[in-house]
Amino acid sequence: MSKVTIVGAGNVGATAAHIIAAHDLADVVLVDVADGLAQGKALDLMHLRSVEKFHAKVSGSNDYAPTKDSDVVVITAGIARKPGMTREDLLGVNSKIMKSVIDEAVQYSPNAVYICVTNPLDVMTYLAFKESGLPKARLMGMGGVLDSARLAFAVCEKLGCCPEDVSAWAVGAHGEGMVCWPRLTTVNGVALTDLLSAEEIAEVVQRCVKGGAEVVGYLKTGSAFYAPGASIAAMVEAIVDDTHRVMSVCSYLDGEYGLSDLYMNVPTRLGACGIEEIVELPLTAEELEALKKSADSVAAQLSNLR
Ligand code: APR
Repeated sequence: MSKVTIVGAGNVGATAAHIIAAHDLADVVLVDVADGLAQGKALDLMHLRSVEKFHAKVSGSNDYAPTKDSDVVVITAGIARKPGMTREDLLGVNSKIMKSVIDEAVQYSPNAVYICVTNPLDVMTYLAFKESGLPKARLMGMGGVLDSARLAFAVCEKLGCCPEDVSAWAVGAHGEGMVCWPRLTTVNGVALTDLLSAEEIAEVVQRCVKGGAEVVGYLKTGSAFYAPGASIAAMVEAIVDDTHRVMSVCSYLDGEYGLSDLYMNVPTRLGACGIEEIVELPLTAEELEALKKSADSVAAQLSNLR
């Protein structure tokens, strides 16, 4: 069985741990700074094994020794958004946390594939990349899978269709600057642009872009975790099962789509070695322009870091 470490046993980390274990994708080690939190949640998940009938083991720790030689390390450590906060507001605190976590994790698992989740995602993933010196194929962020899932939800709400019949693409920055691709988003192979008017598409896109804030608005004390946890598990599955699935992943751009030296969500093929390939879909001039604008918004955020 593969081994997945999740640093940050809060809402997102623990939800991902549950899904990964319940699907027998990997044994999971939860790590958290809070005394007993990772251990308590791990034990609770172990109690679940006979009910949900899985074999994967979940353990918890305050230090990194038990994470040694993980296949995948997921980083969700940090603070989450409260109402009125953007993901960017989290930059200062979460930068310090990300730096210390990646340094420690890499000491124990230098060969693992790393998935950053802490917000602001595009900046935190870039920071982890620079801090760790890991190859670009083995460090990525989770944002686009979640954004695409929210787009699929908005499409289903609008059309009343079955979620399984939707293939949705949300790419670019993981924030208000994200880009939805209606032409490449399909329901049973039919493009959204052939199913909805421009006005209806704009509504669907808004529902997707504001999806995270909508959840924060209801919860008041934190941000979304079920869909983020499931999105992490989907990426972990593609890696540990070496499926070569193409999904919207926060990947390091090195000339692809004409963009360089930044992390942003783009179609990416995942496998056992991490990122196998950034898939450059044929885009219209307008779609390419929107992606470039989104990259500019990420670059502006990165300048706060530098
Ligand atoms: N090392 C390990 N764990 C840490 C550290 C650290 N240096 N600093 C904080 N943590 C832990 C906290 O103790 C907490 O248990 O990270 C956990 C974060 O959990 P939550 O507060 O429940 O936040 P969550 O909703 O899980 O979001 C985590 O993911 O989606 C993003 O914006 C979100 O950045 C946030 C992150």
